[in-house]
Amino acid sequence: MPLIRLIYSSDARETLVYRDFMEIMTKAGEVNASLEITGMLCYGNGKFLQALEGERATVNDLYFRISSDPRHRACQLVQVEDITTRDFAEWGMKIVNWSDAASASQQATLVAATGSDRFEPDQMTGLQATNFLRGLAAAERLLLS
Ligand SMILES: Cc1cc2nc3c(=O)[nH]c(=O)nc-3n(C[C@H](O)[C@H](O)[C@H](O)COP(=O)(O)O)c2cc1C
Repeated sequence: MPLIRLIYSSDARETLVYRDFMEIMTKAGEVNASLEITGMLCYGNGKFLQALEGERATVNDLYFRISSDPRHRACQLVQVEDITTRDFAEWGMKIVNWSDAASASQQATLVAATGSDRFEPDQMTGLQATNFLRGLAAAERLLLS
């Protein structure tokens, strides 16, 4: 079965508070690990940008489940690509909380990838979103090393 990486953007419902979000993600990390899904989720300005990597049928199934979750809306596919290697291999779901307090290196990653200093995932092209998430992953690895 081929491997793919799917990236989508969405808008958080106004009622979603950060604690709910962390609860969803704790569970999601466990589920994803059991499905051999890896990825990254960036949350900021009430918006999500998420990458899901794994076997195509599994990623599709999970995406359809996530996109019908009432805790967010306006899911938009940003990119779907065949892959041979995973960009987020070490994370079931790595969370990056984007905020005004984003670090200088995160800000630089955003500007380098998108040409903008505002986190607006629904405006990104597929390539911009991929490069942005890859850049965040590289910055996380530096922090952890
Ligand atoms: C922005 C967002 C991202 C999510 N990402 C994941 C994920 O990566 N993996 C996962 O299992 N659930 C994720 N969820 C939760 C799912 O939408 C859903 O609640 C979960 O899969 C349980 O589905 P079920 O109630 O149909 O069993 C996410 C929810 C939101 C709002």
